[in-house]
Amino acid sequence: MSYPNYKPGLEGVIAAITKISYLDTEKEQIIVRGYDLIELIEKTSYIKVAYLLLYNRLPSDEQAKEFEKSLMAEAEIPDSMYQLFSLMPKTTQAMDALRTGISFLAGYEDPDFLMDTSTKANEAKALKILAKAPTIAVNSYRALKGMPFVRPNRELGYAENFIYMIKGEKPTATEVDTLDKILTAYIEHEMPNSTFAVRVVASTLSDIYGAITSAVASLKGPLHGGANEAAMKMFLEVLSLGGVKIAEKYILEKLARKDKIMGFGHRVYMKKYDPRAYLLKDYIPKLAHLRPEGAELAQIYEIIAKVMEREKGIFPNADYPIALLYYLIHIPIDLYTPIFLCSRIAGLAAHHIEQHENNRLFRPRVIYEGERDLHP
Ligand code: ACO
Repeated sequence: MSYPNYKPGLEGVIAAITKISYLDTEKEQIIVRGYDLIELIEKTSYIKVAYLLLYNRLPSDEQAKEFEKSLMAEAEIPDSMYQLFSLMPKTTQAMDALRTGISFLAGYEDPDFLMDTSTKANEAKALKILAKAPTIAVNSYRALKGMPFVRPNRELGYAENFIYMIKGEKPTATEVDTLDKILTAYIEHEMPNSTFAVRVVASTLSDIYGAITSAVASLKGPLHGGANEAAMKMFLEVLSLGGVKIAEKYILEKLARKDKIMGFGHRVYMKKYDPRAYLLKDYIPKLAHLRPEGAELAQIYEIIAKVMEREKGIFPNADYPIALLYYLIHIPIDLYTPIFLCSRIAGLAAHHIEQHENNRLFRPRVIYEGERDLHP
């Protein structure tokens, strides 16, 4: 049976009227609050775009500095959260630890303030989640790996402190700049599954901690944010099986088995280049020297992209170059998707706020194909 009104996966269905962002596939632009995201990545910083998303205006340098300071002042988490991380089973996955951590944070809010859906209250809670998420992501991961905690250093910048906590030492300027660009590239992207999850939860007038917790669960999946980790594992598998020499054969065999190639394809721009991927691929050769195998990985990157274009007419999405960029700056693979989530909090929070500003409960219907008239 086919149903004209049913769109599997809600493909093409309009779920919201928004002033936050839009994927203009005709102009190959990702519009974020009126700006082209690619220009924002090139000319501004993560902090500035996060501010733009939360407060609907691009800040001056001074305002951005103040905003970063207020985020760093909120970056520490309660001691009981470090205990919570130590109690987690070592089999816990990093995204699940982050999900638990963000959910746990809700308990520290005054109950009335937690449920306050005003823009002011939502902005204040969003700032706390944005500030604390990197501390939760990195230190829950550290606990799972049996590594000592590295508490946030409020003297550092947001991206700088993020890598500092991951590595336990001050990062280089290249590492900070690369992470800042990755965070900005990931910051907001219209209505992906995780943003939809936030909107659906927010529409019940539930709180922002719950809404963002649902987004963590959504983003974890390999068809969504988890693709960056899966793409890196594929690069490393190609390398271990013979590298450049076998890369084409490896992909052709996967396609023959009808396997999905992770980091390729996108519901909105399936047959077009994701502008973020187009920009970020140029950073790969520049950073290849940071790993002995970097130059070969950069070649494998190109080979796989060419085979995918030739065989399927499908292009890389942002996860494909970002996976390799993370690897080149020595970020552990288990943290790829948690970092993606942290970067996206500014966008998710903007959607939560906008949903509460003009709310109607999400409650769709179904086509029923089950039985009827049975009796117990
Ligand atoms: N590798 C191989 N073939 C693909 C891929 C891929 N990565 N993506 C799409 N296709 C093919 C499908 O096999 C299908 O071909 P067919 O019509 O011959 O059967 C066609 O393209 C349409 O694919 P669908 O899966 O139906 O497209 P959908 O819009 O539902 O899925 C998705 C989009 C999930 C992103 C898909 O492209 C995919 O699975 N990609 C790999 C995972 C990935 O990289 N996800 C990250 C998305 S971006 C992000 O979240 C940051």
